[in-house]
Amino acid sequence: MTSQTYLSALFSLNDRVAVVTGGSSGIGRAIAGALARAGASVVVVARREAELAATVDELTADGCRAAWVGGDLGSRDGVRAAAEQAAAAFGEPDILVNSAGINLRPPMGELGEEVWDTTMAVNLKAPFLLGQRFGPGMAERGFGRIIHVTSQQAHRAFVQSGAYGVSKGALESLARSQAEAWSPYGVTCNTLVPGFVMTPLNERLSSDPEKVAALAARTMVGRNGLADDFAGAAVFLASGASAYVTGQALFVDGGLSVH
Ligand SMILES: NC(=O)c1ccc[n+]([C@@H]2O[C@H](COP(=O)([O-])OP(=O)(O)OC[C@H]3O[C@@H](n4cnc5c(N)ncnc54)[C@H](OP(=O)(O)O)[C@@H]3O)[C@@H](O)[C@H]2O)c1
Repeated sequence: MTSQTYLSALFSLNDRVAVVTGGSSGIGRAIAGALARAGASVVVVARREAELAATVDELTADGCRAAWVGGDLGSRDGVRAAAEQAAAAFGEPDILVNSAGINLRPPMGELGEEVWDTTMAVNLKAPFLLGQRFGPGMAERGFGRIIHVTSQQAHRAFVQSGAYGVSKGALESLARSQAEAWSPYGVTCNTLVPGFVMTPLNERLSSDPEKVAALAARTMVGRNGLADDFAGAAVFLASGASAYVTGQALFVDGGLSVH
């Protein structure tokens, strides 16, 4: 057996279909690229069409199969419409990655219901609804992978975690409930936990060199995260290699959480 054959048996995503929310930017875009380059047909879902189209163009130019669906995951109808369109592109997904997320940071005393509701809708309810839509089918077919992108703020307060940290903490609980329900049928459900990653989401912090250096110093590796740091972990959690890993939170944070 060649090493290539061995690695393919463990990690290849050939013939798999993946849906990646937030797949047009940052961590989601890196994960979509990794899954596609590992062989999956990938559908990226987000609101802004130019970013979606650019992502798909990059992947198809690389010889990958990719498609995009424009939709707002902040409303129930938006999620339902996006889910149906996503399934229409390459068929029902084997892999669901929930990376779409927002981080609004009003101080706790000023945190109103609108920010709370919007945060919960995008960060928590959309992953729940997409899991309800795709999880049972995965279980019926005997294979599935659900991967949520949470945050260190699921575990600790950080720069006014407010509603955001609550949504991410609940998302980790959702992964465990989904794992409990569907793991017996070959569907694993896990979370990837970023620390501080240089993406458009936290432009305000990442454009301040002093803050960037201070945050890097809190890691063990000595630098902040890059979107591509999630490629290997995502392929692992999406592949056959992780069949016995479920209900877990995998920290991809340079050691930030244990420093
Ligand atoms: N960067 C970090 O340091 C960090 C740390 C911890 C956790 N995370 C988590 O990692 C995930 C990805 O974040 P990122 O840093 O890669 O951020 P990003 O670059 O801002 O990407 C966020 C993605 O979500 C999409 N999105 C946002 N709201 C949406 C909505 N209502 N409907 C559909 N799509 C929506 C965005 O596209 P549109 O705007 O076009 O819709 C974009 O594709 C998030 O869940 C975030 O909470 C990030």
